[in-house]
This record gives sequence, structure tokens and C-alpha cells, in this order.
Amino acid sequence: MVAMSKIATGNGHGENSPYFDGWKAYETNPFHPSDRPNGVIQMGLAENQLCLDFVEKWLMKHPEVSLCSPEGVSKFKETALFQDYHGIPEFRQAVAKFMAKVRGDRVKFDPDRIVMSGGATGAHESLVFCLADPGEAFLVPTPYYPGFDRDLKWRTGIELVPIVCESSNNFMITREAMEAAYERAQEANLRVKGLLITNPSNPLGTILDRETLKAVVKFINEKNIHLVGDEIYAATVFQEPEFVSISEIIEEDDVVCNRDLIHIVYSLSKDMGFPGFRVGIIYSYNDAVVSCARKMSSFGLVSSQTQHLIASMLSDDDFVENFIAESKEQLFKRHKYFTWSLAQVGIGSLKSNAGLFIWMDLRKLLEEKTFEAEMKLWRVIINEVKLNVSPGSSFHCDEPGWFRVCFANMDDNTMEVALLRIRTFMMKNNEAMVPRPKLCRRSSLKLSLSRSRRMDDFMSPGIMSPHSPLPQSPLVRARN
Ligand SMILES: Cc1ncc(COP(=O)(O)O)c(C=O)c1O
Repeated sequence: MVAMSKIATGNGHGENSPYFDGWKAYETNPFHPSDRPNGVIQMGLAENQLCLDFVEKWLMKHPEVSLCSPEGVSKFKETALFQDYHGIPEFRQAVAKFMAKVRGDRVKFDPDRIVMSGGATGAHESLVFCLADPGEAFLVPTPYYPGFDRDLKWRTGIELVPIVCESSNNFMITREAMEAAYERAQEANLRVKGLLITNPSNPLGTILDRETLKAVVKFINEKNIHLVGDEIYAATVFQEPEFVSISEIIEEDDVVCNRDLIHIVYSLSKDMGFPGFRVGIIYSYNDAVVSCARKMSSFGLVSSQTQHLIASMLSDDDFVENFIAESKEQLFKRHKYFTWSLAQVGIGSLKSNAGLFIWMDLRKLLEEKTFEAEMKLWRVIINEVKLNVSPGSSFHCDEPGWFRVCFANMDDNTMEVALLRIRTFMMKNNEAMVPRPKLCRRSSLKLSLSRSRRMDDFMSPGIMSPHSPLPQSPLVRARN
């Protein structure tokens, strides 16, 4: 065998986790309404597809932004030759303006502090390279985005220490939990260099309130460690209370903060729905970090063609305003319908007002309160219900039975098929506890009944309510 590096041969990418396994199951048998109606529906991908037609309309009206059009070809030469790692000035200005707009214009961002990276993925890694050495640690509240293990740890050699957050207080970040994580790191001889928060949260779909943000800023100042705020879902907040950015908190009169410790990660992957463009941003209040991250950005520049397009699009104030409003509206509707549909069949979820996903509570479907039972249920959902949802354990959730389900990466029809599968699955679960005569009557129900009719039936008194305890799944019990 040919020798390779430890990074190359190690397991740091995390490709073998259930989070990525679910994607593989989807890729081998993807759902298609006519070609593969029994295929797996992808609900494990936090993509925002609900407003892409809105963007397409803008593109049709602006052929000059494409270098491949007669209207835009005159810009081809200068754009193709551009390679300065500071980025095109118009791009940095437009992004700074967009970041402010997304935060209700309550704060301003300096275009000279905007550093490019290959998505938020590249931004996180570059920041860690700037802030920590191998063997040092960052604290991260759980549950957190599984990609952080790859993005922050893999190539940099740092460690992540979980700040354990619990469902009993809706996964809030408390001072006690931060202190406990800090102590655990010290006991393990890990020097803590920073704390990473994701606001709005992936996977919870919740936002951090002002008081919690202030408590976090106080904590990191007292410990003299860095704070990285991943705010890549900022514009997905579709309902009150409104989003509060860390950039607002540090400007408040009663907040004492060393700004050199504050860094924001941003991206257009979620708020605009452009993960393919790999537009990531590091915004640091620390001059030395801006300078170092900019040099490092040579490894993950955004192509000048993309910068050119984004500069034009985000400089169009009317478009930006309408897009943000339209996107929130679409997400609000989807979220409302999806959570309502889940509740109709007895599935609860964490109350949320942001993001592209729902943190679904399937604790009552577990055979026992273990992560093995969670994985067993997950296998049933992926192999038999044919939905790729992500188990809480892949987000380092401390409590088994939570699953993240994405709702903005599919069209209405696919969503209906997914909901129908969930209903059918829950009906089978329910049959296990329904007395025999009722079971016979219900088993003759045809799935072609209208949605409200089916819902009414499931909701018959004594059978099930959104709050009733769910029986164990016969499907779960059948599989070992
Ligand atoms: C919280 C969080 N940070 C970072 C990323 C990576 O985003 P990007 O596509 O911009 O690299 C994701 C992607 O899902 C995410 O959810």
C-alpha cells in the first residue's frame, strides 16, 4: 500500500457518519414522480429552493450580467483576467450592503473587512487556521451542524468540545453549560481558543435571544477567547421574534466587549439559495485576522464570474428587498403547513421561526431511550418510509429521538408525497394500539381520500391527537 498523510487516511471528513449515509441511500435510489415514485425523498439537505424562480426572472431581465450573452460579453476579458484576492470592490460593497439589509439595516458592515472564502465551509476553516493551533479547542453548543467536525477539525487539527444543551429548556445556551464545557476542556488538557455559535441554529431552526447573546459575549470576554458567529441563516427568519446579530450586540451601550475577539461567518448558500456558487464571507472586527484571512483566501477564492454576477444582483435594491420578503413568506408558508401536517399525525417539533428545517420529536417512537434505538428508527425511516431525514446523534444531540427534516429543498408535489408517506407510517404505528374492530375499518381507508378527510379520520377522538403518546412502531420492533 502506498503511504499517504495522516489527514488523507484519517476519518476526519466524517463521510461515514449517518448524516452522509442518508445522502448515499438517496443517491442510489432518488425519488422521481414518474421514473422512481418509490425512491428515497431527500429531506436531509438544507437547501433553499423556494425562491429560485424569483431569481430566474431577475436574470431574464438582466442579460448583461452573463458574460456569455451579447449584452455582457464586453466584460469577459477583464473578468476572466481578474484574480486579486481582495475581491472585486463592487462585490464587497454589495455583500456588505446585503449583510446590513438582512439585519434590518440596524448595523453597517465595512466592505474593507469582507474576506471571501469557498462557502461558509472554507470560511470556518480559514478562521480556525487564523485563531488556533493543532491540539487547541473550540466550544460548540449542541446540537450542531455535522459539517463542523469536518470544517473546523479535519485539516486544522483542533478539537471541538460540546456545550451540552438540553430539550428541557428548548436547547438554550446557558452560562452553566458554557462553564461546564470549558472545565471539561481544561480537564482534558485542551486550551480553549474560541466558541462557535450558529444563529439561527442548524438544526434547531431557532434564534438566540438578546440576553443569551449578551451572556455569550460576556463569557468569551471573561475567558478572553474568540467568538465566531455563524449567521448564514440570518435571512431565513420568517416569523417574530426578529433576528439579532452578534454585530448588533457588540454595539449596545451596556455590553463590554473586546471587538478583536468577534468574527462573523456568512454565506449566500442558505439566505439566497446559492450553495453552488460557493460564496462564503469572513467578517472580522480584528484587523490582524482580516489581513491573515485575506491572504489565506487565495486557497478558496470566489470566481470572478460569480463575483461579477453577485455584485450586480445584490446592488439592485428593489430586487434585494423583494427577494428577502418573498423568501420569508415562502418559508413561513412551508414551515406552517409542514409543522401542522406533522402535528395532525401526532408528531411534535421544537417551536422554531427560522431555517430550512424542522427539529422533529420522535422520542415516543423509540423502543428505548438510546442512540441505538434512534439508529434503528432512522433505518426504518430511510429504508421503508423512504425519506432521508437526519438523526439527532449526527448533530451531537445529547438526547436520542430527535430528527432534522428539511422542507425547503423540494417542490409542493414532492412535499405532499413525503407527508403522505409520513402519515401512512404513523397510521401503521397507530394500528398497533387501536382495538381490532376499529383497525379493520381504518385499514380499508384508501389513500386517495382528500387530505382533510384523512386527517379527520386520524384525529378521531380516542385514536390520536397531536399530544397523545405514540405507541412503539411495529416496524421498529421488527428490525434489529
Ligand atoms: C450552520 C452551517 N454552517 C456552514 C454550512 C456550510 O455552508 P456553505 O455551503 O456556505 O459552505 C452549513 C451548510 O449546511 C451550515 O448549515
